[in-house]
Amino acid sequence: MESIALLRDKRIVLGVCGSIAVYKAVDLASKLTQAGALVDVVMTAAAQRFVSPLTFQAVSGHPVYTDLWDAESDGGLPTHIAHVGLAESADALMIAPATAHTIAKLAHGLADDLLSLTALAGSCPMIIAPAMDGEMYQSSPVQANLATIAARGAHVIEPETGRFASGLQGIGRLPETSTLIGRLRRILGAEGELAGQKLVVTAGGTREAIDPVRYITNRSSGKQGYAIAQAALDAGADAVLISSARGLPSPVGATAVAVDSSEAMLSAVLEHTHEAAALIMAAAVADYRPLDIAQQKIKKADDDLTLALTPTTDILMAVKKQRESSGYPMIVVGFAAESERLVENASDKLQRKGLDLLIANDITAKDAGFEVDSNRVLVLDMDGGMQAIEKTSKANIGAYIIERVVGLLD
Ligand code: CTP
Repeated sequence: MESIALLRDKRIVLGVCGSIAVYKAVDLASKLTQAGALVDVVMTAAAQRFVSPLTFQAVSGHPVYTDLWDAESDGGLPTHIAHVGLAESADALMIAPATAHTIAKLAHGLADDLLSLTALAGSCPMIIAPAMDGEMYQSSPVQANLATIAARGAHVIEPETGRFASGLQGIGRLPETSTLIGRLRRILGAEGELAGQKLVVTAGGTREAIDPVRYITNRSSGKQGYAIAQAALDAGADAVLISSARGLPSPVGATAVAVDSSEAMLSAVLEHTHEAAALIMAAAVADYRPLDIAQQKIKKADDDLTLALTPTTDILMAVKKQRESSGYPMIVVGFAAESERLVENASDKLQRKGLDLLIANDITAKDAGFEVDSNRVLVLDMDGGMQAIEKTSKANIGAYIIERVVGLLD
């Protein structure tokens, strides 16, 4: 797991209750730590029946808090009174898994252990991820208590449906770590520089059908577009991710619009950008599509097969037209995939497509660009500025692009 700028040096108090889902909380504590957060784990007595505090201490590198009466804290808290220190210093309190008992205590303001006391003493965002058997989760007391704490401003993460340790099926499973971290990012980024702004990002190589089973596509994986959408979400934006990529999990909180062809991407882009702050066109849109789509599967024959191709509509040119008449999207960022004369071709695209920024990729590089997790780009702007970004993660490039978009919107 790579470092996440939004989580770096953030103090996250992770409250852990007694549920078999505790094993997932170990992974959560580990991934949060790897992402750069400072994780202070508070365990209830029941949680310690499932996993020892040492496990959390090992993955977080921090002392684990278990005892309300223990006045010693060597975890760098602002005061030695653990519940006050934990509550004071936290950027977020996440209780995962949260049991019915702890949820009831939170709803009624009971404070008989370190976790419930810390929850009362804090004013940071509180995130509750319930985990329990389905009948229990759906019972009236649990639902009423969750409604009470949600009405007071806590963020309740809906559990997932599936199989329980009991062998029964239902709703009540603790979501996977990626979902929990995604929700935490959304909450921590809510007041970021793009709060309230709509950003549209496209990703992936489009697929142009030949017949019902075959299509033409390209090597774009969509990873860079997904990283940009995640960076937009971390900055508080309402992100719409229009994607033709397959198999990549959509960032938590994004409005995902799945498309196949360039034509479908064109309509989705026009539909979603007419009042958007920015469009970031990271998708590798096919320039040609088969002139006719065969209704039936094309049968094998001994002769050569010639496919007639026709140009697709250039989406950025259509957006340029829309922008000239409506002013939206306010900022447009394009990409350029070039195999030769990078600067010359990229500058030409920037002008021709009326872009504010253009991110140029040299697609002949083996260690950057298509399919891999890293990228190396040249960023051109409409004032003739040019900046080279050395090889780094697609997440860092995404964050850089979002920073530039924030600057342009200002
Ligand atoms: N693009 C688009 N619509 C198309 C083709 C490309 O909006 N039908 C966008 C891409 O999403 C990218 C930019 O235009 O942001 C440049 O894409 P690229 O493939 O590099 O350039 P093309 O305009 O297709 O030109 P060429 O393939 O000749 O380099």
